[in-house]
Amino acid sequence: MSTVTDPRTRLGALAEWPAIRQALDLLAIPGSRHAIPTPAAIIDLTALRGNLERAAGICGDAGVAVRPHAKTHKCADLARLQLDAGAVGVCVAKVGEAEALFGAGIDDILVTSPIVGRQVATRAAELAAAGAAVTVTVDHPAGVAVLAAMARTPIDVLVDIDVGLGRSGAPDPDAALRVAAAVAAAPHLTMRGVQGYGGHWQHISDPPERHTAVAEGMRRLTAAIELLDRHGHDTTVRTGGGTGTLEVDIALGVLTELQPGSYAVMDAQYHRIDGSWVQSLQQALFVAATVTGATRHWLTVDAGLKAFATDAGAPVSDIGAYLWYGDEQGLLLTDYPDRPTLGTHVEFTPPHCDPTIDRYDLLHVVEGDTLVDLWPVQARGRSQ
Ligand SMILES: Cc1ncc(COP(=O)(O)O)c(C=O)c1O
Repeated sequence: MSTVTDPRTRLGALAEWPAIRQALDLLAIPGSRHAIPTPAAIIDLTALRGNLERAAGICGDAGVAVRPHAKTHKCADLARLQLDAGAVGVCVAKVGEAEALFGAGIDDILVTSPIVGRQVATRAAELAAAGAAVTVTVDHPAGVAVLAAMARTPIDVLVDIDVGLGRSGAPDPDAALRVAAAVAAAPHLTMRGVQGYGGHWQHISDPPERHTAVAEGMRRLTAAIELLDRHGHDTTVRTGGGTGTLEVDIALGVLTELQPGSYAVMDAQYHRIDGSWVQSLQQALFVAATVTGATRHWLTVDAGLKAFATDAGAPVSDIGAYLWYGDEQGLLLTDYPDRPTLGTHVEFTPPHCDPTIDRYDLLHVVEGDTLVDLWPVQARGRSQ
């Protein structure tokens, strides 16, 4: 349960919305999980805690730090549970997410998307000046220059290295050295290490194939680290990795800090990959929908394209096959003997957790079938 205050206080203006008032009235009532206004994002607290403990255990045994990626949940209450479970801080993708989480009491934040441009640099510098323990990433001397121009107080910096994803990062060791040299020359900026993240490896289903791909990327990262070390730059922090590669990242031993995000709540696409660690994680995020049509041989439910991210297949249900049916509705093809009746709830495992949660103001936290808390998704939509 939340460590802050009672949900009404914590939700602020959100608590005045009629549907949210209805959810608040359900708190602590047995069976209330099945009466939440839908579509709604549901978090199973027992499953969530189990996933956090599992990551803490594996990484603790290996002596590797965990800095979970909060881009998955964008929620300060969930981040607090991760910190309580031993995380050294959190990651966010964007400065806007850092602003939202810092405003909700989360202090130690790494922004994993490299700083580009004056607007983002200004806001990163303001966050640091406001007292956030914010670390930023850079991958080009131009980004360093604008950050250095805006910084008024010390800011810790990591050089992002491209380990083969081709999305961000210095493309080779010499380029990384130029970025590190720019950081070293900038007043207020302190070089702390490197980041190397391979998003393209995370969902490789076959463990040996995944291992080979990550090993190649870690060779690229190691080459950059060795060059930076030879020139006297601090590479103490070596951060990266995700849910899919956590076991490989530990086995290869290059990263000192891991950034899994989806592991906390899981989704259908991660359940499709092999590996003992991923398979040991439990589904903690569900989207609840109401049956709004039951007169045909399929059911109509009130969760459509606006209720789920659509990039990774269809939502998954234990009792039938979901078909997209427009912005507001979906179809559930089911011959389940106890098929849900009009007005009752059905829960789905979302195909992809991060962009699904970003569609919701609230996470409805349940224990068993009881609604026990409401957590605001403070960084929802804060992708600037
Ligand atoms: C830089 C970075 N690190 C870590 C992650 C976490 O990945 P996952 O949710 O697959 O664990 C992401 C996700 O996109 C990311 O962009």
